[in-house]
Amino acid sequence: MLSKFQLLKISAAFSTPTLQKGHSLQQIVAFGSRMGPASYTTSSRLIFRQMFEKESSTYTYLLADASHPDKPALLVDPVDKTVDRDISLVKGLGLKLMYAINTHVHADHVTGTGLLKSKLPGVKSIISKASNAKADRFVEPGDKICFGDLFLEVRATPGHTQGCVTYVTGDGPDQPQPRIAFTGDALLIRGCGRTDFQGGSSDQLYDSVHSQIFTLPGDTLMYPAHDYKGFSASSVGEEMQYNPHLTKDKETFKGIMANLKLPYPKMIDIAVPANMVCGLQDFESNL
Ligand SMILES: [Fe+2]
Repeated sequence: MLSKFQLLKISAAFSTPTLQKGHSLQQIVAFGSRMGPASYTTSSRLIFRQMFEKESSTYTYLLADASHPDKPALLVDPVDKTVDRDISLVKGLGLKLMYAINTHVHADHVTGTGLLKSKLPGVKSIISKASNAKADRFVEPGDKICFGDLFLEVRATPGHTQGCVTYVTGDGPDQPQPRIAFTGDALLIRGCGRTDFQGGSSDQLYDSVHSQIFTLPGDTLMYPAHDYKGFSASSVGEEMQYNPHLTKDKETFKGIMANLKLPYPKMIDIAVPANMVCGLQDFESNL
């Protein structure tokens, strides 16, 4: 007998066009737009939404396994100011939020992780062990974060901060295709995160991106933690071809990063201490 997932795959094959390897990003986006906003994937079981917080230009991502009875879900990089929006979407879609996970200790906004935990008891926070931040669960390279029968794979991509990781959807016939990489600030669309604070290193960032992200299949969709120009997605192949910094050789890249002359991050003195404790600094000091 066919499983529920097999039936979903068959029905999807007859009701929607099939995305093949080699399609351009424009084709992928056009395909995704027929499936709903920011659902640039062919998987019929993955619920995927991209959300935006305008003050820090941060993207939060919602992922869930629609074919599992509980519809287990997770949020990547939630922001404190948009937690109520995120919860209303989770509830509206009938999902069970299991995890609030961060790609790194952010310096430009306070994470929504702590608020989510307080408003939805049972939600667990996740961050990399290398971040040295507080969380319910610490992940290391190669770990899997499971939600239903889907999972994210953890890849260490330090350089913007010492604890940065990239989360990549699973590799396998029952996982979404193409794969999706949530790169945090390690790799941005046509850019990358700064490397002059929080244990940053341009040398390390270059190696991280080339060894952990650019080794993924070229059609892997790439979703960053931020965009400041209105772009929403890219692909590994596209960044390997067009990223103005990371297509350079390492020494040129290090020179570019050393001469960015960026201002001191205005939120860093508030955001980093709060994010080291899941964004609950104010709550804890008031207890
Ligand atoms: Fe960052």
